[in-house]
Amino acid sequence: MQSEAPLDFLGDLKRTHMCGELGAGDAGRRAVLMGWVHRRHDLGGIIFIHLRDRTGIVQLVFREDAAPEVHGRAERLRPEYVIAVEGTVTLRSPETVNPNLPTGGIEVVCSRIWILNESLTPPFPMEENVDVSEDVRLKYRYVDLRRPHMQRNIILRSQITFAARETLTRMGFLEIETPFLTRSTPEGARDFLVPSRVQRGSFYALPQSPQLFKQLLMISGFEKYFQIVRCFRDEDLRADRQPEFTQIDLEMSFPQQESIFEVVEPLVQRVAAVAGYSVQIPFPRLTYQQAMRSYGSDKPDCRIPPFHTVEDLFGGAGLTAEGLPLVAIRIPSTGALSRKERDELKAFGEERGLRVYDDVKRLERDFPEAMTAVRERTGAGPEDLLLLAGRPSPIKGHRPEEAVLTACGQLRLYAAQRYNDRHKLLDPRNFQFLWVVDFPMFEWNEDEQRWDAAHHPFTSVHDDDLDKLTSDPASCRAKSYDLVLNGVELGSGSIRIHRRDVQSKVFAALGFSEEEARRRFGFLLTALEYGAPPHGGIALGLDRLVMILAGENSIRDVIPFPKTARGTDLMCDAPSPVPASQLRELGIVIKGI
Ligand code: AMO
Repeated sequence: MQSEAPLDFLGDLKRTHMCGELGAGDAGRRAVLMGWVHRRHDLGGIIFIHLRDRTGIVQLVFREDAAPEVHGRAERLRPEYVIAVEGTVTLRSPETVNPNLPTGGIEVVCSRIWILNESLTPPFPMEENVDVSEDVRLKYRYVDLRRPHMQRNIILRSQITFAARETLTRMGFLEIETPFLTRSTPEGARDFLVPSRVQRGSFYALPQSPQLFKQLLMISGFEKYFQIVRCFRDEDLRADRQPEFTQIDLEMSFPQQESIFEVVEPLVQRVAAVAGYSVQIPFPRLTYQQAMRSYGSDKPDCRIPPFHTVEDLFGGAGLTAEGLPLVAIRIPSTGALSRKERDELKAFGEERGLRVYDDVKRLERDFPEAMTAVRERTGAGPEDLLLLAGRPSPIKGHRPEEAVLTACGQLRLYAAQRYNDRHKLLDPRNFQFLWVVDFPMFEWNEDEQRWDAAHHPFTSVHDDDLDKLTSDPASCRAKSYDLVLNGVELGSGSIRIHRRDVQSKVFAALGFSEEEARRRFGFLLTALEYGAPPHGGIALGLDRLVMILAGENSIRDVIPFPKTARGTDLMCDAPSPVPASQLRELGIVIKGI
């Protein structure tokens, strides 16, 4: 950029105040302020500048009659120029007070100005609600981050991180770092690989989580570990998923499941308080079975009432196939839907194999007694939307009932979200935390026709289910738990296996040969034989936590430099090809692109 006039040096000038912190109490004081030109209003003989720094905005005044040379220089100012000024804090006359600005009762009448840097015209204005595509925001992220709401989000993130660190440290947890250059972890999603230059042909993996290392730290006797740690996963991205994200990760020795909850509940309460919310603890606990039967989801959104299974009331009516649930969904205060809306709901259900019975009048005519019982069970009044949903055709698979409940859960959420405007059910500030416990130990992998660990293969099985590991894996419950908030999985953890013999049984149930287990996790298996204590832990998704507490819908809005849904960093244009020489050094040849 070509300067029209020389810029000033900062020299030994020192800031005396921050813009947003000035108030009536400072009237009469000399102030040296530094920041960015937010807005300029030129009335000829008098120029008003809104000066912005991290703390807020204050009005500067340049008067031609009082300081003509300084006023002349202020004429050069454009949005986002970086300046320093010296002036006197002055009370505004009552008619000029700006009620929309926290510092609106005062202004700073300037006697000196330093123009420290110029700026190109920014690609979008520094306002709250600018109409600009996310791609442009991400390309000029350093400008986007100057906007007040992004500043608030990133500052909140810092405060939350500090509160978490302080709370855990006070509780006796030690913050211990674990490696980023490591071996594949067993979380199931895909690893980012890093080629080794020194050992050509070998690769490190970036950790999907510090899972194995934190277990090893328990074996090493540290007893209470935490880390606010970056994790890396090469997964398909969504609004609440990034390829690199941050966990508040912790692990304890000798815990009961409740011991973990007793750490996490006050931690979350403290962090929510930082964001200005008061959260009641303890959080409700629901078993996985209960969550499925009441919400059709293992991460229920409890801002909407649960649904109810009612197949027992319609025995033999054929609304759902034998052995499959019939579900009554109530969405409060939604009133009657239009024909079009009802068709939409039906189509949504049909795509998921459901038949949606939305004609309540007809149901009441055909099944008067059953429908009275449905109203009683669901508590549905005339102002509520009431739907029945079932699956008249049979279904194959390992947990057919769950498949139907899941589809009904999606229908329930769809109906609530679709008609949310009408009844404001899904208030983002209504925080409904809960624990979901007793997850199934295994999930059926249809593609590979085998059982996978539902959480990870180091999770303990319920003591009562230990004998069923190979005979009836479908019914085995794990000692694992999720922290859920408004339909989002905030955190996930488990009590781990600390005995080598039990670990072998679980590997066998997962179809790993002893040899394969040794190849993949040999160091952990060996470590289990050197006095591993009972241990367990959890990891909370920091980005998701901040997203919800900041009232955002995407974690991209609480991450300073996020990737797009395609995993691209639009600002620095990563990932990118690298020079052939670099590949040669690593012994890598790129084929087929
Ligand atoms: P899990 O894989 O469930 O458990 O992850 C824990 C929490 O991390 C957050 N999370 C993510 N956030 C943003 N982007 C992603 N791609 C992403 N993936 C996960 C979620 C999730 O609940 N080692 C275990 C924890 C343990 O057992 O202690 C683990 O990583 O909020």
